[in-house]
Amino acid sequence: MGNLLEAIQSVRLDDDNDALVLLDQTLLPNEKVFVELKEMEEIWEAIYHLKVRGAPAIGIAAAYGVYLAAKKSAAENYEQLYADFKQAKAYLASSRPTAVNLFWALDRMEKRLVKEKDKPVQAIKTALKDEAEQIRAEDEQVCRSIGEHALSLLEPGWGILTHCNAGTIATAKYGTALAPIYLGQERGYNFKVYADETRPLLQGARLTAWELREAGVDVTLICDNMASIVMKEGKIQAVLVGCDRVAANGDTANKIGTSGVAILAKYYQIPFYVCAPLSTIDMACQTGDEIHIELRPAEEITTKWYEKPMAPQGIKTYNPAFDVTDHTLITAIITEKGIAYPPFRDSLANMFKE
Ligand code: MRU
Repeated sequence: MGNLLEAIQSVRLDDDNDALVLLDQTLLPNEKVFVELKEMEEIWEAIYHLKVRGAPAIGIAAAYGVYLAAKKSAAENYEQLYADFKQAKAYLASSRPTAVNLFWALDRMEKRLVKEKDKPVQAIKTALKDEAEQIRAEDEQVCRSIGEHALSLLEPGWGILTHCNAGTIATAKYGTALAPIYLGQERGYNFKVYADETRPLLQGARLTAWELREAGVDVTLICDNMASIVMKEGKIQAVLVGCDRVAANGDTANKIGTSGVAILAKYYQIPFYVCAPLSTIDMACQTGDEIHIELRPAEEITTKWYEKPMAPQGIKTYNPAFDVTDHTLITAIITEKGIAYPPFRDSLANMFKE
């Protein structure tokens, strides 16, 4: 992955300083700045404004966040600690609605707290730290396994299109959709990756193109509306994307624009693979229709990356941050447990049984 990326921890706990430390992803690729966050409001703001982003990384940040809230609590008994924890949990859960990892990680932290209820308050706090660290450490292993399974579907020299950023900085390490590319890079696969710039927040241009170039991967940046031409020209042999929530039937929410890429891939008969840790699969959600799609402010479209506004003042906008790719467009969903093929209702359910 290259020294810089190997060393980067985009989300970590600095327990001695009671702080969550994040690589501020809004400043990349121009500045590599780590921010230290101590207050719940700062953590909420960092998630909402995408200083930390990517489903697994959001979950890890929230787990550390509720641990820090519990650590700070002046509670003298379990009931008081639980009340403070619940308040922090509900607050952080309101930061972004679509990535299920946020809720998954917060629920997992709550389960651990409840499990330790008979212990002294200090011991419960230590257990919460342990749980948050486990969530981070497990994610690293999970991403590596996803990478191995996904790599088994790819051949050396292939052109791969990806959308948004499902890379190392979106997770504990390796990424999901980018994990097979990093493993392939170590093994001489010489992939040629095409990164969609990913309007409106440019995760592809600012983050994926940066990450892959740092790792020495052959990466070409394209605008979102160029995906069709590179497919038509035969430059793409597979599409790999991450996801924010997968429903039980395989419908998948990911960064806005993903469903369009999937429709194009079907037309050009290119396999479309979704990389998903089990923590991103929401079996309680029956279909994509139940997934809450985040709507974000107009200024992300009209002004954010421009010196001057690039749309008439006050223009009506519609800015959904995610879309749902229908399961019929997905060739396979790759998890840490292996590769799920259609019908996804069965194959995904089996992943949780094993
Ligand atoms: O709005 P973002 O940047 O948080 O959206 C992120 C994505 O859509 C990623 O593809 C997804 O979270 C997977 S990250 C491994």
